Amino acid sequence: MKLSDEMRKSLNEQIVMESDASSFYLGMASWCEVTGYEGAASFFYAQSDEERQHMLKIVHYMNRIGTMADISACSEPKKDVKSLEEIIRTSLENEQKVTQSIHQIITLAEKERDRRTFDFMQWFVKEQIEEEETFDNILQKFEVVGRDKLAIYEVDKYMNGIGSKQDKE
Ligand code: FEO
Repeated sequence: MKLSDEMRKSLNEQIVMESDASSFYLGMASWCEVTGYEGAASFFYAQSDEERQHMLKIVHYMNRIGTMADISACSEPKKDVKSLEEIIRTSLENEQKVTQSIHQIITLAEKERDRRTFDFMQWFVKEQIEEEETFDNILQKFEVVGRDKLAIYEVDKYMNGIGSKQDKE
């Protein structure tokens, strides 16, 4: 069974979203690296790679079932970065949008009785729970340790730990 036109459009849009996320995290990793936040930089470089993997998962899924994925341009990442906390907040908001979009694809799959896409998307549901939790936890760190230079150093160190955990997975 081929994908419906609506499902094809939704999955293609999801590819762009994942690609946007990868590019956003790459931009943020680069900003962190030059700003001296090495832990955060390594976290965001790993995050950028992960998002590219998410994008590829959908590309392969579509191609394997005979609906060629459409590869479109992604958006330019934010340039006027003000602080690490701002990046984390934006990351959480972006991830919440991705979660919403994934839930919409699942709702469409249910409506169309497209069991295959429904099952395929379950992995993304779990992944989004983890990603939102990760950014939520980092934001909470700011509440606990504060926002002065030493506090940001602590957050940066904490993010380095998460980055190395991701590398091992
Ligand atoms: Fe793959 Fe974090 O969205």
